[in-house]
Amino acid sequence: MFDSGFGGLTVARALIDLLPEEDLVYVGDTGRYPYGPRPLDQVRTFAHQIAGHLVERHDVKLIVVACNTASAAALGELQQTMPVPVVGVIEPGVRSLVAATRSGHIGVIGTVGTIGSGAYQAAVGATGASVTLSCAACPGFVEFVERGDTDSDQVHVLAERLLAPLREAGIDTLLLGCTHYPFLARTISDVMGREVVLVDSADETAFRIRGLLAELDLARPLGERVGRHVFESSGDVEVFRRLGRSMLGPELDDVRSVAWT
Ligand code: DGL
Repeated sequence: MFDSGFGGLTVARALIDLLPEEDLVYVGDTGRYPYGPRPLDQVRTFAHQIAGHLVERHDVKLIVVACNTASAAALGELQQTMPVPVVGVIEPGVRSLVAATRSGHIGVIGTVGTIGSGAYQAAVGATGASVTLSCAACPGFVEFVERGDTDSDQVHVLAERLLAPLREAGIDTLLLGCTHYPFLARTISDVMGREVVLVDSADETAFRIRGLLAELDLARPLGERVGRHVFESSGDVEVFRRLGRSMLGPELDDVRSVAWT
């Protein structure tokens, strides 16, 4: 599994809880975060590099692109070129979103790269659901999370400004279309109001992975043993251990450094 930094830990949590016997290698590319403002071509190059590393160095049986920006940039290509199944977070998130809305007026927030790519607009359209979609990019949110700041006045002020168009649009359900954003859920909910339901892609992605592993006969037998969890960071390993552990929990213990050549 990989993300630009800590965001994918929201998906890792759901996966560890649902499939405790599976081994997990998590790459947080904190040396090159944020991905959101980068050209999609560059994010695609990073995604290929990390996916290749997971297959070659760790011999993984499945790859989770636990990052919306990288999913928007590279999921299709990775699915065609990698020798193992590759799962993204956009389609599972959209499934939760469409299932949760009552009024049919839905919203998605994400990075500049994700929203600009049109991937969510296309994925919602592909469901065939009769809904009205409002989207907003939220530049700056990821940087707050990477600093471990999820509820300061500053992040609140930024959220007020970035989410104002969605409040005015009158949506009833909001998809957090960046895996970092669940860490900001309290702030986002304060701004949007309690009547707006927040959904994210983590649980649905974990269910999708469970289904795929079963279908391909790749799942470890239930309760066989507790999986091993290895974390790699391309940035400061100590910061990753300290902050990441406060976000994921005690499973985040073994953090190693990874460098790209
Ligand atoms: N967590 C990522 C996402 O879901 C990337 C955020 C970033 O690095 O800008 O898009």
